Amino acid sequence: MRRSAEAERCGNSKGKGCYCNFRIHQVKKLDRLKGKVAIVTGGARGLGKHFCLALAQENAKVVVTDILADSAEKTSLEILAEGGQSIALNADVTTESETIRMADETLKAFGRIDILVNNAALFYGITRKPYQI
Ligand SMILES: NC(=O)c1ccc[n+]([C@@H]2O[C@H](COP(=O)([O-])OP(=O)(O)OC[C@H]3O[C@@H](n4cnc5c(N)ncnc54)[C@H](O)[C@@H]3O)[C@@H](O)[C@H]2O)c1
Repeated sequence: MRRSAEAERCGNSKGKGCYCNFRIHQVKKLDRLKGKVAIVTGGARGLGKHFCLALAQENAKVVVTDILADSAEKTSLEILAEGGQSIALNADVTTESETIRMADETLKAFGRIDILVNNAALFYGITRKPYQI
């Protein structure tokens, strides 16, 4: 199956293609979140990545957090390349100290926190395996 350019950029490149089909890169840049700072957990790929790009499209400053540090960096660089403001943080939301660091680093970089997209979880990459109780 040939995937669209959007699917290629989605990050779920090992799957059957982009299930969300969200054409963020073709959306006109708006200013509805100008000056706001948004943290997106699990922003490296999948829906989280699209949330990051959509928030940036509205001119929010986006903090891309994930346990996949390299991919989070790529999402952040994509925002910067389109003229937005963003940082990437390697943070595991299951560890309280890392979520506190996530907030601290955000405040250090952008001075405020307005939005938290609590997206991080396992979904797309999970493979089914037999297990015993
Ligand atoms: N895709 C769907 O159809 C669908 C449907 C219902 C709900 N959801 C929910 O939407 C969210 C995103 O789904 P997706 O399909 O984009 O998932 P995905 O697996 O593609 O992406 C999840 C991201 O979260 C990150 N992550 C996982 N554990 C983390 C942790 N402890 N700390 C920080 N980052 C972590 C992963 O590294 C990954 O980048 C999930 O919460 C999922 O349960 C998705």
